[in-house]
Amino acid sequence: MQEPVPFSTSAPSSPDGIGLGVGLRTVHFAHILKNWPAVDWFEIISENFMNCGGRPRNVLDQIAERYPIVMHGVSMSIGSTDPLNLDYLQKLKQLATETKARWVSDHVCWTGVASKNTHDLLPVPYNEETLRHLVDRIGIVQDILERPLVLENPSTYVTFRDSTMTEWDFIRYLTMETGCQLLLDVNNVYVSSVNHDFDARRYLDSIPVDRVVQFHLAGHTNMGTHCIDTHDGHVVDPVWELFRYAHERGIRASTLLEWDASIPEFDVVHAEVLKAKSWLQTAHALDEPYVINPPSMETAPSRLAGIPQPALYATAEVE
Ligand SMILES: [Fe+2]
Repeated sequence: MQEPVPFSTSAPSSPDGIGLGVGLRTVHFAHILKNWPAVDWFEIISENFMNCGGRPRNVLDQIAERYPIVMHGVSMSIGSTDPLNLDYLQKLKQLATETKARWVSDHVCWTGVASKNTHDLLPVPYNEETLRHLVDRIGIVQDILERPLVLENPSTYVTFRDSTMTEWDFIRYLTMETGCQLLLDVNNVYVSSVNHDFDARRYLDSIPVDRVVQFHLAGHTNMGTHCIDTHDGHVVDPVWELFRYAHERGIRASTLLEWDASIPEFDVVHAEVLKAKSWLQTAHALDEPYVINPPSMETAPSRLAGIPQPALYATAEVE
């Protein structure tokens, strides 16, 4: 058997945080166990490992011994009006402990109501009422997990008449009020910018630089009239351009390539995320002083710290 590759082709203190990672998918298990590829880190879908033992968990344990692990969830449903699932949160915390997860992320969305899971990441209206609701729930989650929650911007296909602020303002206020951190999916920004006709660079201009701990990159499907976040192919140049622009703005974070449909061989997926290096060479990012912002409890105030004050939104822009 080949010797395991110890962490990383780029050290954790590199300009890219813990480097360039790949989403762990079962179709690649055999390849990874046989070759121990020189990938910097893996992101797991939390729910795939929370209630399972057997081979998937055994494989994860072997991988977690050799690579940094980041957890990415799809069913916290932070935006739902259902009560938070405390059993889910305890299991999430346990898995994070067992895998020594660097951070735990989910999405700014809701996934169900009345105890029904739609298995879709559904958008929320961006207004003060929703903001207060999410601020309170993020605080509870962070208290239970005993670490900051990392939240990802969603890809969306509808907007709400009840929205009174832009998505980028909503997300910025969330970070200000909760101490949560951000997973900036530049493909989602691009997809939503096409679907809702906004300036993707303006979105990135409003994201607080020091709150982003991770990027997502992915492919999508352009339907002509709209884009769908399919994760089934290569990252397109306009998304790479946004990724570079984010670095030009000073955002430094670990980068993860998502590929969830028509998944090719592992080396193809890994090669796709490694393209980030050449895109960043023109962003002058690697020459600048670098400060990684790993989640830490110092930046996560208690949920008792208060909810947003109305004055905060007085100048919020309306989409
Ligand atoms: Fe994503």
